[in-house]
Amino acid sequence: MKHLIDPHFFFKKFDGCDILTRSAMLAYQKEYSMRIIFFAGKGGVGKTSVAAATGIKAAERGNKTVIMSLDVAHSLSDIFDMEKTLINQSKGQPAQVGENLWIQEIDIQEEIEKNWGDIHKYLSTLLNTTGLDEILAEELAILPGMEEVGLLLHINQYAKDNSFDVVLLDCAPTGESLRFISVPTTLEWYINKIFKIEKTIAKYARPMAKRFYDVPLPGEDYFKAIERLFEKLKGVDALLTDPKITTVRLVANPEKIVLKETQRAFMYFCLYNMSIDAIIMNRVLPDEINEPYFQNRQESQKRYVQEAEAYFQPVPLFPVNLFKDEVLGYNTLKALGDQIYGARDPLDRFFKGKPYELTKIDGKYQLKMKLPFIEKKDVALHKIADELIVRIGGFKRSVMLPRQVAALDSLKATLEGQYLLIHFDV
Ligand SMILES: Nc1ncnc2c1ncn2[C@@H]1O[C@H](COP(=O)(O)OP(=O)(O)O)[C@@H](O)[C@H]1O
Ligand SMILES: [Mg+2]
Repeated sequence: MKHLIDPHFFFKKFDGCDILTRSAMLAYQKEYSMRIIFFAGKGGVGKTSVAAATGIKAAERGNKTVIMSLDVAHSLSDIFDMEKTLINQSKGQPAQVGENLWIQEIDIQEEIEKNWGDIHKYLSTLLNTTGLDEILAEELAILPGMEEVGLLLHINQYAKDNSFDVVLLDCAPTGESLRFISVPTTLEWYINKIFKIEKTIAKYARPMAKRFYDVPLPGEDYFKAIERLFEKLKGVDALLTDPKITTVRLVANPEKIVLKETQRAFMYFCLYNMSIDAIIMNRVLPDEINEPYFQNRQESQKRYVQEAEAYFQPVPLFPVNLFKDEVLGYNTLKALGDQIYGARDPLDRFFKGKPYELTKIDGKYQLKMKLPFIEKKDVALHKIADELIVRIGGFKRSVMLPRQVAALDSLKATLEGQYLLIHFDV
């Protein structure tokens, strides 16, 4: 029962179960016309600026666009030079900043009131009975992942209601945005495998527990709230993994540490079956600068840009110059948008590759996953019933296999260039 008490349980432990489960695919039969673009990368590389610049370009082309922010250090409203009172009044709802253009900063308190009421109530009571001060207990009962789930609920609603043509996501720094993309699968895993057992245990244990412990067990409200949440989240994973709808743009700078992190992010987004369609190489020193002071920097940047092109190809790389000043306000953001996209439509999918596919070659099944930058020793495979679990370092992903493939016992992995090939045999 430890997990009932551990607030990290929900979103941390079971990340990475398959996004493309059959039930999710079935639930997703409606054709959505929305376009979703994630902007992800290390802290400070320019995600918020690039997302805002893209928003301006998309809105100017007549698309009703919302830029949503998950970064705790919200700065969307700052870079649009919005008055704080305006954004405070919007209470986590979209606030209009231009023709066809809205920004939305997720407000955790609003999300709790709307979606987490009974779950939050139970957890804070629980923490409160363990001796914590009430206010602190309420604070601690904000689970990691609640904001992310709130954002997913908004996206799902927008897709269902056709509220926006374009949703742009200004993600939190890499580590946290990866947790975010694993939320729907984590929740599905939780509901399917643990939730039902837990519910039964709670039902039978409650009378006993009341006699022996002070710790309250969750009541019906708690379970109902989780079920409701799950209902509202249904289909969002299919939206995020449909490359016609969602692509990820990784924002980077031509620096060693940033590039390492970008490579890692690239692999993990692939692992979660999301399609990366561009690398935006921000803050490149322009050639016109002829200062000896910057010469070394210019040379190393050139090298890193070339290296990055080689790493990420065939995904295209868009270089963007370092501006003279901070990127603030509509006009500068628009100039940044022009630098990134030129005459291109920012909503195009600049690369249309598949992160993985299952094929039959000479009568044998093979799963091909694009996972650049890994070594064979880092990969561990397990098959449990019709689930294939691919573990790479601390991350894991499970792929639901078709029945005829799941029945095969032998598994072998080979690396071929940027692809991990998993061969199935009798
Ligand atoms: N191409 C650029 N030229 C000059 N300054 C930039 C550029 N891109 C971003 N900045 C500045 O860098 C800082 C960090 O950018 P921001 O978009 O907030 O990054 P992130 O969202 O990734 O943390 C901001 O002050 C922004 O104005
Ligand atoms: Mg930011």
